[in-house]
Amino acid sequence: MKKILILFAHPALHKSKINNILIKSVLHEPGITVNNLYEKYPDFYIDIIAEQQLLLEHDIIVWQHPFYWYSGPALLKEWFDLVLQHGFAYGEKGRRLEGKKAMSVITTGGRREIYSARGRNHFTMNEFLVPYRQSANLCRMEYLPPFVVHGAHTILPEEIVNAASGYKRLMQTLRDGLIDDTVLHSVEYLNDIKL
Ligand SMILES: Cc1cc2nc3c(=O)[nH]c(=O)nc-3n(C[C@H](O)[C@H](O)[C@H](O)COP(=O)(O)O)c2cc1C
Repeated sequence: MKKILILFAHPALHKSKINNILIKSVLHEPGITVNNLYEKYPDFYIDIIAEQQLLLEHDIIVWQHPFYWYSGPALLKEWFDLVLQHGFAYGEKGRRLEGKKAMSVITTGGRREIYSARGRNHFTMNEFLVPYRQSANLCRMEYLPPFVVHGAHTILPEEIVNAASGYKRLMQTLRDGLIDDTVLHSVEYLNDIKL
């Protein structure tokens, strides 16, 4: 069984329609640790050693957050800046994350169609996520396609429930190692895999 660490970053969880339900669906799953960054560090003073220790104890690293200005909320950026230190995460002697899997779980206001070359946002989600992909690469981690829930403004309650059960199934499948790497890398979004 693989151990999954979800680095959860939502600055206004009390207003959340989607992430709140997604995160609750995996909260009590064995082998899954939910690390709620805004709850833990409301003052932005991240405990670097504790965060690095958590990374070492897990095999699959998940960054879950709403999409803010085509990226993540500020505290997640702070986490990257402070926790993924040279000599720990990257560099000649920084190989402590080597071989782990990493992925993003994202919710957006915009619908899937507008995240395309011809759509209003001009770029795909996978293009916007290049900094995450390359950060994972630099740390010698394998970055998987993302799990994305689009259209926060118009999504129906039953669609959120479906997305949450899909998310939970995906996390269970990854944890239990029930899915082949070639299948994982064959899709644009991990939501597109029938589990
Ligand atoms: C500061 C801010 C920036 C946002 N930037 C984007 C964006 O770049 N693209 C997008 O599709 N939605 C954007 N949104 C919408 C959020 O992504 C959306 O409300 C959120 O993912 C919904 O998830 P929740 O119900 O868990 O809060 C933004 C919202 C806020 C508050």
